[in-house]
Amino acid sequence: MRVIFGSGKVSNLICEERDVVIPHSECDISDFGSLERIFLELRPQVVINTAAKTNLEYCQDNKRMAYETNTLGPINLLHLCEVYRSKLVHISSGCLFDGNNKVSYETTPPNTSVWYTHIKRWADEYIQNYGYEDYLILRPRQMISAVSNPTNMLTKFSYYDEIYAHKELNSITCVEDFRDMMNHLIKRNECGVFNCCNDGLVTPHEIALGVKKYIKPELVVHEATYEETLKLQPNRRVNTILSNEKLKATGYIPRTAAEALEWALTTYE
Ligand SMILES: NC(=O)c1ccc[n+]([C@@H]2O[C@H](COP(=O)([O-])OP(=O)(O)OC[C@H]3O[C@@H](n4cnc5c(N)ncnc54)[C@H](OP(=O)(O)O)[C@@H]3O)[C@@H](O)[C@H]2O)c1
Repeated sequence: MRVIFGSGKVSNLICEERDVVIPHSECDISDFGSLERIFLELRPQVVINTAAKTNLEYCQDNKRMAYETNTLGPINLLHLCEVYRSKLVHISSGCLFDGNNKVSYETTPPNTSVWYTHIKRWADEYIQNYGYEDYLILRPRQMISAVSNPTNMLTKFSYYDEIYAHKELNSITCVEDFRDMMNHLIKRNECGVFNCCNDGLVTPHEIALGVKKYIKPELVVHEATYEETLKLQPNRRVNTILSNEKLKATGYIPRTAAEALEWALTTYE
């Protein structure tokens, strides 16, 4: 049996009929006791952690609460996975890597500068160093999807009337493809860290133009430099290029980022 913690954007798209989804209202992953009761009752073979505080500004302004969910929560799950011999699949993030035009590999040391990325990194480091090896840490980047959701980049862009977007190259992950990447890795019983993104790169400017073309024709798209866009945000946003060679070496062939973006835009609900 697979148990998925969290019921947000990723959870909704990866869950299958046979999965048990535990929403926040049923369990707070920072509460070890309530997690323990769920493990005792369900004895899951695979535990997928999608639960997280994902808003950068919220994390920066609520450091302790964010730490409890994004660091302590996955650590609690790891400890229980060890006791119940379950596989832990923890969703991390590509944004632990900050660097224009630099390729980041699974072995690249993270460089984090805001609270959200610090606390995600600490969870990853704990899991990697603890000694229970049956885990997968999956790192997607800038998630897009054909299903509208406040944390879907396409939806986020469509909330604006005008947008300033830069032309720095970035990896992206289509959530519908992420589901296949994850299932592929679980099926092969892979362990360790995997970057999970589509092949090739796109820029926020291209995504904004796509949103204008297919979702919101009245959106006004301005080209801006990366530095200019940073001034518009209270907390630093990164540009990240992930290598997905390790994923591909397991036999998974991802769609290209351009193909996935076009598909998500043209089938967007
Ligand atoms: N969105 C992206 O582009 C992106 C990119 C890279 C990585 N990721 C990672 O992917 C994972 C899933 O993200 P997502 O986009 O699906 O996020 P999401 O839509 O914000 O969903 C997060 C879920 O976690 C739940 N949650 C929050 N605090 C909790 C707690 N203490 N205990 C239990 N559940 C809690 C939320 O419930 P409530 O809303 O009811 O609190 C919500 O159901 C996260 O780890 C995120 O860091 C996301």
